[in-house]
Amino acid sequence: MTKKTAVTTKDLAIEKLWRRGVLHWKLDSAQKDVYNLYKKSKQRKLVITAPRRMGKSYSLLIIAIEAALSDPGTIVRYACPTAFMAQRFIIPTMFDILKDCPSDLRPSYIRHDRSYTFKNGSSIQIEGTDEGNAERLRGQTSHLCIVDEAGFMDDLENLIKNILLPQTLTTRGKIIISSTPPVEPEHYYTTLVAEAKSNNSYLFKNIYDVLNSIKNDPPPMCNRLTLEAVEELKAEVGGELSDTWQREFMCKFIVNQERAVVPEFTQEKESVIVKEWPRPPRYDAYTSMDLGFVDKTGVLFAYYDFKNNKVVVEDELLLNGTEMTTEILANKIKDKESQLWVNPKTLEVQPVYIRISDDDLITLNDLNRLHGVLFIPTKKDEKATAINELRLKVHSEQLIINPRCKELIYQLHTATWTKNRKTFERTERGSHFDLVDCLVYLIRNIQYHRNPYPHDWGRIPGSVLYKGADVINSTADAIKSLFIKNNK
Ligand SMILES: Nc1ncnc2c1ncn2[C@@H]1O[C@H](COP(=O)(O)OP(=O)(O)O)[C@@H](O)[C@H]1O
Ligand SMILES: [Mg+2]
Repeated sequence: MTKKTAVTTKDLAIEKLWRRGVLHWKLDSAQKDVYNLYKKSKQRKLVITAPRRMGKSYSLLIIAIEAALSDPGTIVRYACPTAFMAQRFIIPTMFDILKDCPSDLRPSYIRHDRSYTFKNGSSIQIEGTDEGNAERLRGQTSHLCIVDEAGFMDDLENLIKNILLPQTLTTRGKIIISSTPPVEPEHYYTTLVAEAKSNNSYLFKNIYDVLNSIKNDPPPMCNRLTLEAVEELKAEVGGELSDTWQREFMCKFIVNQERAVVPEFTQEKESVIVKEWPRPPRYDAYTSMDLGFVDKTGVLFAYYDFKNNKVVVEDELLLNGTEMTTEILANKIKDKESQLWVNPKTLEVQPVYIRISDDDLITLNDLNRLHGVLFIPTKKDEKATAINELRLKVHSEQLIINPRCKELIYQLHTATWTKNRKTFERTERGSHFDLVDCLVYLIRNIQYHRNPYPHDWGRIPGSVLYKGADVINSTADAIKSLFIKNNK
């Protein structure tokens, strides 16, 4: 009897919550982070990267139903990569959620419209975007758009820019874009992630973050995903080092190892290599360029730190081939060089030691004769060997990249060979990994043997051994202390 009353009370509570349009109580703590991002962020586009099995689709549907119930006439568009996925996963999850919905509130599913219609005039349209069906998501207005497993859509950029965004212009509706990382990191989803990171509208979780978030949730929430189940999953998909585990559960944006141009440039390597590096007292500066007319023109500005054996890339330029004249190019290069290599004390600009470029002789001639910017054409033979040299530099951490070189970092992560391994893939962003080419030219042309320090460096009083703390190591310090009188 008591038991029956308790069940009835719970049922009544659930019914009340449905009638108020409140459903987030169905979510576990990891899923509530998705919900809170949607509720709290002021940005129009919200991006989520999270592992399989977290219940991303479940959380997105909860957000959709709450929106539909609480505001009459709300139009929600829910896109997923295939009609098969919609039918096989999304509709059944919707069915699960609606199980305890009071019958008079329950939306009816209209098969040929692929949409749930509520009595208050709201609707949720669920569509697979394969085989041209993204077009079915076009409409006058929409108050909320959801893009589920966005990293697996063929034409995500078109879906977002041409189909969904225009519908939310007048309603100021939000677009939630959720996925596990795509197989090819050079997918438009990666661009959306970068954008969302920079304006605080991004949520990232890997499978262990999820476990950590839900560990104190009451059962059955905390039991939906356990450490044992996760370890079993890991073994099933090929173990810790498998691409599937790393991508779909650890949520790493990894390039297919066989197609990656620089597979050594992992997230871990990035955290060691990408940093500010103290400028040594003497160095040779280099400028390296890859000219493009159909593709972009990339330019890198770097120096070689002889003492520490590091190639240090300080800045980058990426210009659109079609809009560029040799004059614009020359001026941009001169500006960057004079900003970078100016001595802050004397205000003198150190001339660049060598500029290297691929061998478009007419452009290089113009740059030299008309604008005084001399480039030497690089050798381009043995491309594979030259790239291996770059890979070794990354592996041995003899390369440092300043964090402001955002495009170079992006290209190093995403550069892939075409299937025949003869050239690099062309990309959606319109690049041909031009900055990776620049880096290859740079590394093969640096004069590693050239010592930029004068022969009496460190011996004469007044040179940096006596003054500049940045080049004094502890041995030098100890020796110095033997010779300098203590005046106190
Ligand atoms: N909070 C929840 N309560 C009950 N069932 C859930 C919950 N979250 C997810 N599920 C169920 O777990 C399964 C996986 O969820 P799904 O949303 O498909 O995961 P993902 O999209 O992250 O791969 C589905 O069957 C879904 O109904
Ligand atoms: Mg899903």
